[in-house]
Amino acid sequence: MSGVPPRLHQLPRTVKVFLSLVIVFILLFSFAAWSTYSSSLTVGYPAPDYDTRPTSHLNQSKILLVSAFFPLLKSNHPISDYETWLSNFLSVVKTDIYFYTPPDVVPLIERLRGNHPIYINATYSSPFDVPPLEGLEEIYIEMNEVYKDRGVHSHKMSGIWNAKAFFLDEAVRHVVETPLARGGNHHYEYVFWTDAGGMREPNHYEYWPEYNRVDALWEEGRNLSGYMMQKDELLFLPIVGMGVEYHKQIGMRWKDTDGPGYPGVIPWNAGSFLGGPPGVITWFRNIFYSYHNAWLAQGMWVGIDQDIFSAIMLLYPHRFITVWLGDPLAPAHLYTSVPEGEYGGVQELGACGHWPWYYYEFFLSDAETRDKMRDWWLDRISEPENKMVKGNWEGWWKGSNACRLTDLLWCKQLLEREFGKDWIPPQATLVNLENPKPQEVKWL
Ligand SMILES: *[C@@H]1O[C@H](CO)[C@@H](O)[C@H](O)[C@H]1NC(C)=O
Ligand SMILES: *[C@@H]1O[C@H](CO)[C@@H](O)[C@H](O)[C@H]1NC(C)=O
Ligand SMILES: *[C@@H]1O[C@H](CO)[C@@H](O)[C@H](O)[C@H]1NC(C)=O
Repeated sequence: MSGVPPRLHQLPRTVKVFLSLVIVFILLFSFAAWSTYSSSLTVGYPAPDYDTRPTSHLNQSKILLVSAFFPLLKSNHPISDYETWLSNFLSVVKTDIYFYTPPDVVPLIERLRGNHPIYINATYSSPFDVPPLEGLEEIYIEMNEVYKDRGVHSHKMSGIWNAKAFFLDEAVRHVVETPLARGGNHHYEYVFWTDAGGMREPNHYEYWPEYNRVDALWEEGRNLSGYMMQKDELLFLPIVGMGVEYHKQIGMRWKDTDGPGYPGVIPWNAGSFLGGPPGVITWFRNIFYSYHNAWLAQGMWVGIDQDIFSAIMLLYPHRFITVWLGDPLAPAHLYTSVPEGEYGGVQELGACGHWPWYYYEFFLSDAETRDKMRDWWLDRISEPENKMVKGNWEGWWKGSNACRLTDLLWCKQLLEREFGKDWIPPQATLVNLENPKPQEVKWL
């Protein structure tokens, strides 16, 4: 009986049986617990997410971010919030940035950006200096008076939002004139608008949006479309949700002659981020201002960019790919083991941060970065009472609540799913690239 400690031989037989049962129990129990943990991991994180090989960032310079900051006296948030958010973005993200801001804000942006690549274009002091909005300031002031109920505090806010489509495309055209072009031979494959205040939390998004992930998503978009669409025809616009049944009813019946639609023409998009290959960005700019001008000329409310974005999504759903954190049919959602919204920061896909609105930031990162963000968020949720709740609740609550990656969606497919197979996109009857800016407006 070598190998067995001699003192064990001296124990009574019943005690030996008891001890071995305890050992077997511990082994079985930890195996069961481990399998709960690992199976919830496999279920929760789809396979490609578990590629732990370090990502090469050699191609990151093929991504350009475009953003802007025009401080307002009256905004939805105090200026100190913006400085923190700007810093979470400018000091962390190493991707090339083309930035619009008034001359007096340049030093702030330079300071926050440090040594990371940026070109700051200080041509415009106000959003109403940009060509598509030039001469419209008075009309915007009137519009915000007439549509007071829309809750936009400042007509300048509307101006900044509606300048995004111009800034994004204009940066693509002019970036070759800047040092970012690295002597002229540089080509950007993907260009994105991101709100300068869109990173509300400290984060690890150094290589963001991560090139390999982005390129794989566009390839997936082609595949979802059955190869009907090519990469340079697909625009990514994250959505916040589909709203309630009432919103769905509006969305289903919406026609472009109804105007941008308020409240909540659906799908309700985030508005803080959009982009894709340069070609689709030029297309988007043209459609955006064509509709902006047509609707404004008819005295309709165009003060919120998201309403116009959603309308374009309904008109051309085949051109959009998206992500929807709350999608009730997403495989990653169905496996949620915790009650939604009951614990701080735990959303439909697990602990994905305090602002689920910005889930696309996680979605567009590489595997290493996603793991870092998961850890950051898990540290910030508190352990719920260890009671059985719908599904398995085994104490491995952190592992099973790590933020999960959901699937990319092709908007055409999504809208057909939501509105029914019979739904066909409304006709774009007002689109005309020559639609002029209105000189004066008779409000509805
Ligand atoms: C860079 O991107 C090209 C495709 O554009 C790809 O063939 C190549 O493997 C990528 N290199 C790295 C290091 O990721
Ligand atoms: C700055 O923006 C203006 C307006 O878009 C443009 O004409 C100019 O070329 C830009 N400058 C650079 C260096 O990108
Ligand atoms: C999309 O990709 C999947 C698996 O990668 C493949 O089985 C499917 O046939 C592709 N779709 C189309 C339309 O080819």
